[in-house]
Amino acid sequence: NLIMKSSKTIGVLVPNIGNPFFSTFIKGIQKKSRELKFTPFVFSANHDEKLETYYLKQLVERATDGLIIASASITDDALDQILKRNRIPYLLLDQNTIVDGDRIETDDINGGRIAADHLLSLGHQHFTMVMPSEPTNNLVRRLQGFQERLKEDGKQVSVIYSPMTKQGGYEATDEVLATDATAIFAINDEMAIGLYRGLREKDLRVPQDLSIMGYDDIDLDEYVQPKLTTVHQPIMQMGEQATDLLVDRIQHPNAEVKTIHLPVNLVIRDSTANV
Ligand code: RIB
Repeated sequence: NLIMKSSKTIGVLVPNIGNPFFSTFIKGIQKKSRELKFTPFVFSANHDEKLETYYLKQLVERATDGLIIASASITDDALDQILKRNRIPYLLLDQNTIVDGDRIETDDINGGRIAADHLLSLGHQHFTMVMPSEPTNNLVRRLQGFQERLKEDGKQVSVIYSPMTKQGGYEATDEVLATDATAIFAINDEMAIGLYRGLREKDLRVPQDLSIMGYDDIDLDEYVQPKLTTVHQPIMQMGEQATDLLVDRIQHPNAEVKTIHLPVNLVIRDSTANV
């Protein structure tokens, strides 16, 4: 009897709980879980495959009803061996781009395109992207979209690799300045904010000397100086819809597989300006 077996819990795996993107995502999960009378257990394994697999096993042993997985370290193998074998429903999204079962998709290609489009509209000619050297597929798509749009105007982007954290953004400063770019697209807001600090230490002004834009639209964007132009992801909704879909799947294991597409959009603030 399914009802007897249910623990009314869902497990949530995110890559980095220190990033406000994921804390807002988790807020969305909590909100929807309360409505649906489920309790989420959240784990942040920071790209550590062994640790994630450990948490996964623990959750399964504790009879969790389903999982939301936003991190990429879970392999196809772990999905097969642990989740499928135990018939535990799961929903994959964001950094986890394995196409298998229900998904929430945000349009990263379009996100990259609208970032490029905005910077082109301001007359910029030289562009740099800052991103991690081993990007997950969702990040690769942002780069693709950005490149595609620039190419349409006969422009190119130079890419600088650094970890996807504030510190990573900060540490990329010298390399960014070694390019002739006037417009920088950071792969997420945290990197952009780290870069702000590096530029300030060199007495450079945003946006007068360099235009900077980020990606995500975390709440901090309104509190940094200048307020950060970005590509908005509907983060709360991603958490809410992921929970909705997963609980639906827990209750109707044989229903048709679903993908929900959520839009992204440009938010123009004060960190981008005409060349
Ligand atoms: O800021 C965290 C980033 O990693 C976001 O852009 C999100 O989409 C995730 O992949």
